[in-house]
Amino acid sequence: MSIVGRPQEVRLVGNSEAIRLVEAEADTAARSDAKVLVTGETGVGKEVVARLIHHRSARASAPLVTLNCAGLPDSLLESELFGHVRGSFTGAYRDKPGLLEMAPNGTLFLDEVGEMSTRMQVVLLRFLESGEIQRVGADRSHARVNVRLVTATNRDLEAQVAAGTFREDLYFRLNVIRMRIPPLRDRIEDIPLLARYFLHGYRQQHRAPAVEISTEAMDALLTYRWPGNVRELKNVVERIVLKATGPNVGLSDLPAEVRRSVGAVEGSASSQPPAFAAKSYADELAERMLDHGESFWAVVYPLFISRDLTRADLRRIVQSGLERTNGNYRLLVQSFNMPIDDYKRFLSFLRKHDCHLPFQRFRVVPARLRAQVS
Ligand SMILES: Nc1ncnc2c1ncn2[C@@H]1O[C@H](COP(=O)(O)OP(=O)(O)O)[C@@H](O)[C@H]1O
Ligand SMILES: [Mg+2]
Repeated sequence: MSIVGRPQEVRLVGNSEAIRLVEAEADTAARSDAKVLVTGETGVGKEVVARLIHHRSARASAPLVTLNCAGLPDSLLESELFGHVRGSFTGAYRDKPGLLEMAPNGTLFLDEVGEMSTRMQVVLLRFLESGEIQRVGADRSHARVNVRLVTATNRDLEAQVAAGTFREDLYFRLNVIRMRIPPLRDRIEDIPLLARYFLHGYRQQHRAPAVEISTEAMDALLTYRWPGNVRELKNVVERIVLKATGPNVGLSDLPAEVRRSVGAVEGSASSQPPAFAAKSYADELAERMLDHGESFWAVVYPLFISRDLTRADLRRIVQSGLERTNGNYRLLVQSFNMPIDDYKRFLSFLRKHDCHLPFQRFRVVPARLRAQVS
């Protein structure tokens, strides 16, 4: 979670029709206090849009509070938002105000609302109806606050409503102004602009010499499907800047899956299974651990916690690892470059997020036994 007091520069880079529309919608949204629900795949820029709305609104000089509903357990989420009173739970030694009280006349950005538990949904709804803050452990409301709510999700909330996991009344409350940000692959005109924008930023940050992206490399960037959207592009550009060996970025300087995307089009496109590109971001992360010695806690964990990786991605990563270790989780801990003492922590993390795959599937049964087993 974070509180941003002073306005900082927020740029929504892109000149596609889609991005111009999003920017115009953000301007309209900024003129009112209506609730905004921003949807789109992971990494498309939902948080950028939320910040844009805040900074262009009359609330710009008040704080913008950001809270990610995915990273926190229920009890913590509630006390972060609403605060708590002394003695309300073990460790609550004194009264503590919540984030909402810290953002008077500001904006609250709730990221990943689709991950909120049904209990928290009730708590949020109650607040939206009354505007009153009731601290955890208190028996009456403590204060009223005036905050503007912007929410975001990469989930299909309508489907969650239909499935009964998201409250319909809350959905209607949140879904007043709806903004959809299309995936990067549907607005490829933005890719050169974004690539150059990030290139410039990272060159300054890392004090790296100037580099130019060659035509072939740019073609590959335009062809790749970008399952991780703008965030993935940003990461790729940072690695280009860090690894550049000369002034010209060629095809060989791009990550394997981006390079492969050109081959996929030039060769027989139909021979590529459709899941090919969607898999690759996870595959690339698995490779960084399995082949390049990077640690799971550094590579995968933060991305998953910030919801830049889906459960499906995480499962796919665990699967790649288990394929290497023949289903052995202890070896997997080592292969993902974690200390062996992290075994329990790693397993409970996977279980908590329902990404613990049964190891049996990966055990290669020696041929001589197979006949007896089957
Ligand atoms: N149009 C854009 N212009 C500049 N930076 C962007 C744009 N879209 C996304 N980014 C950057 O890409 C990253 C992911 O964006 P973010 O808003 O966190 O995505 P989401 O919330 O949809 O997962 C962030 O570092 C953000 O600054
Ligand atoms: Mg986000």
